[in-house]
Amino acid sequence: MADWKHILLCTSIILAMYKFMLCVAHEERKLHVVYMGSLPNGDYAPASQHSSMLRQVMGNDFAEHSLIRSYNRSFNGFAAKLTDQEVHDLARMDEVVSVFESKTLKLHTTRSWDFMGFQDKRRRSPGESDIIIGVIDTGIWPESDSFSDYGFSPAPKTWKGECAGGNNFTCNKKIIGARKYIDDGGSSSSARDNVGHGSHIASIAAGNKVKDASFYGIAKGIAKGAVPSSRLAVYQVCVTERCVEADILKAFDDAIADGVDLITISLGRREEVDFKLDVIAIGSFHAMEKGILTVQSCGNSGPSRGTITSVAPWLLSVAASIMDRRIIDKFSLGNGQTLSGRSINSFASSGKKIALLPGEHASLPYCNGSTCDCLDPKKVIGNILLCSSEDGVQTGYEYGAFGSIVINSDQHAGVVPYPASRIDEITYAHALSYANSTNNPQVEILKSEAMNDPNAPYIADFSSRGPNPLIPEILKPDISAPGVEILAAFSPNANPSGFPGDNRHVKYNIMTGTSMACPHVTGIAAYVKSFHPDWSPAAIKSSIMTTAIPMNGSQDLKNFAYGAGHVNPVKVIDPGLILDLSKDDYVNLLCDIGYDTATVRKISGDNSACSSSSGKSLLKDINYPSIVYQVQLIQPFMVNFTRTVTNVGIANSTYKASVTKISNINITIVPQVLSFKSLGEKQSFSVNVAGGKFSKPIVLSSSLVWTDEKHRVRIPIIVDVTQI
Ligand SMILES: *[C@@H]1O[C@H](CO)[C@@H](O)[C@H](O)[C@H]1NC(C)=O
Ligand SMILES: *[C@@H]1O[C@H](CO)[C@@H](O)[C@H](O)[C@H]1NC(C)=O
Ligand SMILES: *[C@@H]1O[C@H](CO)[C@@H](O)[C@H](O)[C@H]1NC(C)=O
Ligand SMILES: *[C@@H]1O[C@H](CO)[C@@H](O)[C@H](O)[C@H]1NC(C)=O
Ligand SMILES: *[C@@H]1O[C@H](CO)[C@@H](O)[C@H](O)[C@H]1NC(C)=O
Ligand SMILES: *[C@@H]1O[C@H](CO)[C@@H](O)[C@H](O)[C@H]1NC(C)=O
Ligand SMILES: *[C@@H]1O[C@H](CO)[C@@H](O)[C@H](O)[C@H]1NC(C)=O
Ligand SMILES: *[C@@H]1O[C@H](CO)[C@@H](O)[C@H](O)[C@H]1NC(C)=O
Repeated sequence: MADWKHILLCTSIILAMYKFMLCVAHEERKLHVVYMGSLPNGDYAPASQHSSMLRQVMGNDFAEHSLIRSYNRSFNGFAAKLTDQEVHDLARMDEVVSVFESKTLKLHTTRSWDFMGFQDKRRRSPGESDIIIGVIDTGIWPESDSFSDYGFSPAPKTWKGECAGGNNFTCNKKIIGARKYIDDGGSSSSARDNVGHGSHIASIAAGNKVKDASFYGIAKGIAKGAVPSSRLAVYQVCVTERCVEADILKAFDDAIADGVDLITISLGRREEVDFKLDVIAIGSFHAMEKGILTVQSCGNSGPSRGTITSVAPWLLSVAASIMDRRIIDKFSLGNGQTLSGRSINSFASSGKKIALLPGEHASLPYCNGSTCDCLDPKKVIGNILLCSSEDGVQTGYEYGAFGSIVINSDQHAGVVPYPASRIDEITYAHALSYANSTNNPQVEILKSEAMNDPNAPYIADFSSRGPNPLIPEILKPDISAPGVEILAAFSPNANPSGFPGDNRHVKYNIMTGTSMACPHVTGIAAYVKSFHPDWSPAAIKSSIMTTAIPMNGSQDLKNFAYGAGHVNPVKVIDPGLILDLSKDDYVNLLCDIGYDTATVRKISGDNSACSSSSGKSLLKDINYPSIVYQVQLIQPFMVNFTRTVTNVGIANSTYKASVTKISNINITIVPQVLSFKSLGEKQSFSVNVAGGKFSKPIVLSSSLVWTDEKHRVRIPIIVDVTQI
């Protein structure tokens, strides 16, 4: 009997717990994206369909406010707060492609054009002012000189969007549209940029020419975008460094319907996921379908292998390079020695030397005193701290130090809020041994200056690397562009160094990241489109990739760092041949990676079908302007790739193939010569790659170049020998 009682008691406890858990789950509704593919044709009211689907799974709980966003202009779906059970029920509905939690993505935080040989005297297309670039970011500072509409004509006729930038936000003939997706409730809620990132991005792509722009005199010159006559449409999805996926997807829905020509997006995921769970892959697929190329920063998670998350083949994914103009910060010690570090220090020295204080000499008594993380504030005030760790900059600033000199391994210079130089370990050892050598060590930190880096361009360590973790057959990143120490427009409301307490207000700032590399390429894509308005997104991408300048691949992993090379704006508008891809090709690729016909039809909105021959083996032959092959150690191999080029150069032309040799691999092109009689004519060729045994993992880089008298069409070939 006791046993029965026990069991009953247990059962009721378990039931109670179950109810409690249900209840908890119930309260913990999380924001999810419900993606439904293309919008059906004909009479269809997406918003009411979305409500009715929610009513089906929520029953009486349904409330209008559960529906957070309807994607109903360019593709189909919605965002809603859902329980696990509701997610499960929705995912089973026929109309639904995928349901996934809306995560938070992070921002991938000018001289650069001259460096690339893209001077003002370059040929311009009158069509440049008809190009509209959609910027999905932190908003924009509309009053910046970079976005003045002086001399602009009214918005192009293709523009169907609006200026819905909120309070005290006025568009003009340069910034022709604005939308915001975050309502923080405040009366000041607007698409105005309070972070600085969005203004920086927009001005790199399409900022006006502004003379004498600089950060307190540093990096002084003409600030300008690639296409100063083009227009901007601003979609504000972040008001801090963090951006919500459900909002980003709505920004794509709007930008496509508003009539933008290109989309630039300098933010992304930390980990790659299947395309149907990735809002940027989804949004950019539907953009591509409408002829809009999306350009994305490849991420700042390098330099390890496979860290890239911008992997969809319809995206143009951009790596960050270091250009020739670097910024350094020198300081001179009391013994006359001058050393140099990396920081952007805007503070001119008074010429007086200040006491240099190694952190060890300023520690609190109970500390071990090896670094600057346990300092006595009273000892620090007014001195220049010498620290073996980079948080010394922040600590010294908080404690009222005059300045600081700290070890920092970054390759790039960052803005500092007071005189500070960031140095490597060898320089630190010099400074410390000087400080130890005298009773009264002194130092003077000088204002930053520019210097020339003869090794440029090379890829920054932070830039995310391939191979593509989702589809190894697609080389990612696609291209590289300057992304280090870039001067561009900023928001006077934002903090230029990011250090709490820095109250400076600037119109131009120097920033670093793949975020800054991306809009260089977006601007160049706009430049191509201004000459070739009818080219597909893939054709524009091909022209940018096949004309790129080869980069140094002698170090193994670097072959997965820069894609086709360094973008070359001088050659892009006349590539000679292009490798084109249509929506159908991308749809077939979805089949090849394992999507079934039903899913593919929902996404494509047509009667596409996956054929029985679909499969991974076909992925290598997608008409991509680069070739990558992953092979296992020890085994000799032989593989053929097929590509098709379209003549967009000279009607009557003949191209000859050449291949750079690499050891232990033979690459043969069949045929060796391609003859064209007309523009638009297509020709196919195959690339045969045969290799011997390799005893250790290695990434090898070669390339195929098609040349006529005028053009060089370069297709990189990467062989990735791995231990799988
Ligand atoms: C699209 O969704 C919005 C709400 O987000 C709604 O106001 C609008 O009426 C919807 N349009 C259509 C065509 O369903
Ligand atoms: C609008 O914003 C600008 C820039 O911050 C500011 O100078 C101005 O005072 C604001 N106007 C109003 C009416 O808030
Ligand atoms: C000081 O160093 C000792 C030995 O390395 C360690 O056990 C102790 O936790 C350290 N104290 C502080 C305050 O860091
Ligand atoms: C400098 O002096 C500190 C102790 O004050 C010592 O730990 C350090 O090794 C010395 N460094 C050099 C380079 O002389
Ligand atoms: C390529 O890089 C290597 C190592 O960084 C360097 O030794 C070599 O000189 C570089 N070659 C070229 C052509 O820049
Ligand atoms: C690749 O192409 C070459 C020349 O066209 C041909 O001889 C060879 O059999 C092909 N190899 C494979 C594996 O298809
Ligand atoms: C095409 O070029 C070849 C060689 O340059 C030349 O012989 C031929 O006449 C040209 N054909 C036409 C139609 O221009
Ligand atoms: C490359 O071609 C040469 C000459 O035809 C041949 O001797 C060699 O075995 C080939 N190497 C591989 C890896 O196929």
